Amino acid sequence: MQEIVSKAGGSVIDLFDVQRAYRRWAPIYDLTFGRLVEAGRRHAVEIINRRKGSVLEVGVGTGLSLPRYGRHLQITGIDVSPDMLKKARGRVAQNGLDNVSGLHEMDAGNLDFPDEEFDTVVAMYVITVVPDPEQVMRELERVCAPGGEVVLVNHFSQEEGIRGFIERLFAPLASTLGWRPVFPMDRVLGSRGLRLTDKSSLRPLGLFTMLRFVKQPDLAADQKLQTETVASQARFKPVRA
Ligand SMILES: C[S@@+](CC[C@H](N)C(=O)[O-])C[C@H]1O[C@@H](n2cnc3c(N)ncnc32)[C@H](O)[C@@H]1O
Repeated sequence: MQEIVSKAGGSVIDLFDVQRAYRRWAPIYDLTFGRLVEAGRRHAVEIINRRKGSVLEVGVGTGLSLPRYGRHLQITGIDVSPDMLKKARGRVAQNGLDNVSGLHEMDAGNLDFPDEEFDTVVAMYVITVVPDPEQVMRELERVCAPGGEVVLVNHFSQEEGIRGFIERLFAPLASTLGWRPVFPMDRVLGSRGLRLTDKSSLRPLGLFTMLRFVKQPDLAADQKLQTETVASQARFKPVRA
């Protein structure tokens, strides 16, 4: 098994806790939580299917989304749970999904891919489960190509109302549940390199939200390139006789 080390300084034991939790979930996931959140997953994949190129699905789980992706897209999936991945690999083989180019055991907080590798990066029902959500957001941004999209589907908590009250009631059970009932949306909105372009409530009961971000071009790199181009044009200016 690949050694899992969190770049974020999140302790290694956190990731092993996640692996342990999803070892228990793997046999029943598709018929329980996986089914409950099907509407949001389907909606996100329909949106992604309008796009072209490569897709990285982070926290791909048992691969419930995989047969839904258009065959024109090249899909790579990663997950930290070998038990969930085993199910996903079975699904790929069973459905002959030759557009799935790889399913890798990997930590979302320490992605083993080059910068700007994927046209679309998606994480569904994952960001509240990872040990260090801000580090995962940085990684999603890093591996997304400029002009590409990062799509998140998740439950975000509310301050007010009965729902907020219930979420706060369950907050101390976060480590037992394996996800954070209290998780404000602000925690995923801090990146300067990702511009939020869409926010939609999803079924069931608007409990989940889809967020779409566009990765901004690297302004610092662009400015450097422009300065270099101007400097080199000045150097090669033809000299008048
Ligand atoms: C609730 S499941 C969602 C699975 C799938 N995205 C879906 O739509 O059904 C969360 C998944 O995130 C994975 N996960 C949790 N922490 C992770 C991490 N740090 N890196 C990669 N995957 C992680 C879990 O192993 C699990 O498969």
